[in-house]
Amino acid sequence: MNNKNQSFKITGLAGEKTLKGTVSIQGAKNAALKAMAAAILFDGPVTLENIPDNADVATMTEILTKLGAKAGWVEDGDLSIFKIDASGITSTDIDLNLAANMRASVVLTGPLLARFGKVSFPSPGGCVIGTRPIDLFLSGYKKMGAEVDEDKCSYQITAPNGLHEADIFFNLQTVGGTETLMMAAVLGSGTTILKNCAMEPEIVNVAEWLNDCGADIRGVGTTTIEIVGTKGKLLSAKKHPYVTIPDRIETGSFLLLGALCARDLTITDCEPKHCESVINILKKSGVPIEVGPTTIKIVDNVAPTQLLRPSIDVRTHEYPGFPTDLQSPLVAFLTQTNGESKVFETIYEGRYKYVEDLNKVGTDITFSNPREIVIHGPTQIKSDSEKDEKNTTTIEARDIRAGFAVVMAALCGKGKFTITNIHLIDRGYEKLEYRLQMLGAKIERVNQ
Ligand code: EPZ
Repeated sequence: MNNKNQSFKITGLAGEKTLKGTVSIQGAKNAALKAMAAAILFDGPVTLENIPDNADVATMTEILTKLGAKAGWVEDGDLSIFKIDASGITSTDIDLNLAANMRASVVLTGPLLARFGKVSFPSPGGCVIGTRPIDLFLSGYKKMGAEVDEDKCSYQITAPNGLHEADIFFNLQTVGGTETLMMAAVLGSGTTILKNCAMEPEIVNVAEWLNDCGADIRGVGTTTIEIVGTKGKLLSAKKHPYVTIPDRIETGSFLLLGALCARDLTITDCEPKHCESVINILKKSGVPIEVGPTTIKIVDNVAPTQLLRPSIDVRTHEYPGFPTDLQSPLVAFLTQTNGESKVFETIYEGRYKYVEDLNKVGTDITFSNPREIVIHGPTQIKSDSEKDEKNTTTIEARDIRAGFAVVMAALCGKGKFTITNIHLIDRGYEKLEYRLQMLGAKIERVNQ
């Protein structure tokens, strides 16, 4: 799919909450990508269930295929099943161009190094939301006995005798770092202890599967993880498919959008326990929410949006705190609440680029400092088509989540909007326009 030249055309609802219906949540992108990398630790084919069909999964599939693995959807009767067989891997060089588009490619280094004793990879790419260094991966590998060489734009890591036990303290909680070193230690020798680990549910989801298949990982979901290595024995999936947990970021995104634009919205196939931080904020704002075991409903959301209460102070935080990945959709929501909210971004220094885009269409967001913004609401979001109907206001999607935030802004705004750069949105949200159309939104994908 060449989606680089595509855009969304959206006609806003002008503050009316007319969307209605059901959205089913896909498997979590940020868990699925790690399980795909973990398939390298197995002695044969693995089956992965509930894999989202988004652009990042397609990129990871391509990277694995270039390494020599068989990866992709396989038809089985009426079902389409995702399978990976890493037994044919012949290369340990991660493709430069593909990796440049997706930071998650760096998690492949752990399983490749664990199994083959070497890996080379380019500086990882991904969303432009900050500097995103990989120093914690590299120092971890060194502690586990690997040698790291780097030139201008690539790294070569070797551990010809395999990785050994290590005691590793992460200076800051890193999701990818925790997952990657955990996977690297699975086939090693001795017991590796990781401290100050990230506790995201996606890490737990992958680790539990690995344990079902022969790994010995303890303490996952807490800040200390211990991995007893198998001394080179590969894992075996046998009757244990990996089942991707529901995407909590997608769930939160649709909830925030629904709060502004939907009268009745049912979100199904989700895990509400993973979404407490966003549910709490919405409830405090006055959004009528009902939570079931695997559903979240916005019911009879008829009060004018201007009556919604703002959030006094929100700081993004590692799980279970408020996720950085929902920061921009939350800000789009807060622009419509009545009063002043403060948002502080603790994880990434470069995740406010979309603020100027929102202010261009009528919001009032100011910076207290580079990490903190103040949102003055409510403001009416308006397109240039309000002055001249031949016009449309164009907003660029800056990253996956900021892309969703500007779609939210356009949907609750007045007039016609064009969202460009939507290949970034496609990285994290499967068929977004189709799912919004099903709710009654006027949104279409067009070639520019
Ligand atoms: C994961 O990225 C997610 N991506 C991101 O989701 C998410 O924003 C992030 O976790 C935080 O929740 C995937 O899972 C594929 P980190 P990751 O390592 O693992 C610093 C989305 O929209 N750091 O937890 O790359 C880093 O710079 C995306 O779906 C170092 O300094 O994030 C950041 O400030 C985008 N050195 C902080 O840690 C290191 O060696 C947390 O990053 C590693 C990280």
